[in-house]
Amino acid sequence: MSDLTEKIQRLKKEKNAVICAHYYVESEVQEIADYIGDSYYLAKIASELEEKIIVFCGVLFMGESAKILNPDKTILIPDPQADCPMAHMAQEETIKNMRKQYEDLAVVCYVNSDAKLKACSDVCVTSANALKIVKKLPNKNIYFIPDQNLGMYIAQQVPEKNFLFHAGYCPIHHELTADDVKKEMKLHPKAKVLVHPECKKEVTELADYAGSTSEILSYAKNSTEEEFMICTERGVFHQLQKQNPKKHFYAVGNGQCCEGMKRITLQKVADALEKEKPEVLVEESLRKHAEKSLQRMLKLAE
Ligand code: 13P
Ligand code: SF4
Repeated sequence: MSDLTEKIQRLKKEKNAVICAHYYVESEVQEIADYIGDSYYLAKIASELEEKIIVFCGVLFMGESAKILNPDKTILIPDPQADCPMAHMAQEETIKNMRKQYEDLAVVCYVNSDAKLKACSDVCVTSANALKIVKKLPNKNIYFIPDQNLGMYIAQQVPEKNFLFHAGYCPIHHELTADDVKKEMKLHPKAKVLVHPECKKEVTELADYAGSTSEILSYAKNSTEEEFMICTERGVFHQLQKQNPKKHFYAVGNGQCCEGMKRITLQKVADALEKEKPEVLVEESLRKHAEKSLQRMLKLAE
């Protein structure tokens, strides 16, 4: 065990803290995490933990969700600049205008959004639960913010509803093209194509399976196939290889890398535990409004 890892373990015990991490953070950070998962799991688990301090290894909106749902806990983010660009791609003003224009409208907010956007939405969703939740909503009109790709992927499966999209996207997933996938398919004709639904339609159309990071991991684990092409951020390779040492996983594109996630380092985790900051704070009235749409997600996803 490295000195830094030992220090983190010691501080965790001393302070009764717990570490949660997303699959996209660096491998060594995943290795010191007590809980690791996709955005849905991470939002849910925070409320079930007994520890008073949670060190959240992921991007800011994930730490914010944990704070919104657990105002009495201390949520630490090792680097507050670990941000997701998509989280700021929708605007409150546009949401207000849409509400004026459309009756019977539900504003469905992909959880990769900042607290302001969650606060003026009707319900949050993640890629793991969006389909289930949208189908359960009573509204005919669905304004899906901010991710156009996930929105369109869900819309195809719910033809009975009228979808309106926002022009947001994840730069890491949006960059992947059908040509990138086809090139790799030629090199590995037997590989199953596993895609995150933040990818463009031309990419999800080539998928053998599309799902959240956790769902991609489960698919690979449960499959009897031996080769897989992975269309998402490179961080998932750590668990894919760890859980399936005999299977082969191939990257597509330029080895997609989320800069925000990679800002979280072991040194910053140790510093955050030692100093008990930087802390994620959400102003109380904003928190209360945002909590409604997150709680509704947790209820409808059950
Ligand atoms: P998951 O909910 O699949 O973990 O996705 C989070 C994310 O940021 C994907 O880019
Ligand atoms: Fe945001 Fe994309 Fe990074 Fe996910 S991979 S956190 S959507 S920038």
